[in-house]
Amino acid sequence: MTQQKKPSPFSGERKYIPALGYHWLTPFYDGVAALAGGGDDYLSALIDCAAFARSDRILDVASGTGNLAIAIKQRFPTAQVAALDCDATMLSRAAYKAKQRKMDAHFVRAYAQYLPYADACFDHVVSSLFFHHLDWNAKLHVAREMFRVLKPGGMLHVLDWGRAENRMMRVLFYMVQLVDGFATTRDNVSGKLTALFEQAGFSGVRQLQSFNTLFGTLVLYGAGKSGASSC
Ligand SMILES: C[S@@+](CC[C@H](N)C(=O)[O-])C[C@H]1O[C@@H](n2cnc3c(N)ncnc32)[C@H](O)[C@@H]1O
Repeated sequence: MTQQKKPSPFSGERKYIPALGYHWLTPFYDGVAALAGGGDDYLSALIDCAAFARSDRILDVASGTGNLAIAIKQRFPTAQVAALDCDATMLSRAAYKAKQRKMDAHFVRAYAQYLPYADACFDHVVSSLFFHHLDWNAKLHVAREMFRVLKPGGMLHVLDWGRAENRMMRVLFYMVQLVDGFATTRDNVSGKLTALFEQAGFSGVRQLQSFNTLFGTLVLYGAGKSGASSC
């Protein structure tokens, strides 16, 4: 896959919300994610719904420690999987995990608002537990970038916190809001991600599944980029 050469966005580091809200909590991410919904069941559901083909080019946006990218590579070893995140600590853990499993997933340090890829070069874009780290403008910016790098006919699958399915789920979700902040998580729990993807240009946006977890309701969204693929 073609990476565009651009000046590094890390020269004057931007601000972002780390995986567990605070950098000092980052080493505990995989343990907490297993409890919260980074667990294999939800990632498997995303992979099942995405129905990848063996030679697909797949981009995992904000891949963190690589849980989703690695799970995809395990199921589709010949797929070309690129994964990016802006946090160097998360990426080094991802690279370590991939190396242990002798996988050739490509982990790149970049901000999701500025995907370092040419237009229309991926068959699928996926992302898990990420959009709730962004305010509305950044969410829209990222969704538009995802749309840009997808081929016509390509698919987007996003797993993230969504509208709570009952009062208990809403109460549990306050824990995520206390850690990651209310400003970025409010759009998720208000159920606005469907409208977000439509605003970014996607068609056929729908909620495919939902899961009630220890920290609230996780929703799997699917959407497409209209048009016939040229490849
Ligand atoms: C909760 S973690 C999810 C990681 C992974 N997708 C998973 O399911 O385990 C959120 C990730 O988003 C990354 N992140 C936050 N803001 C970002 C941005 N603007 N661009 C790229 N990555 C970002 C963080 O570094 C973190 O690794």
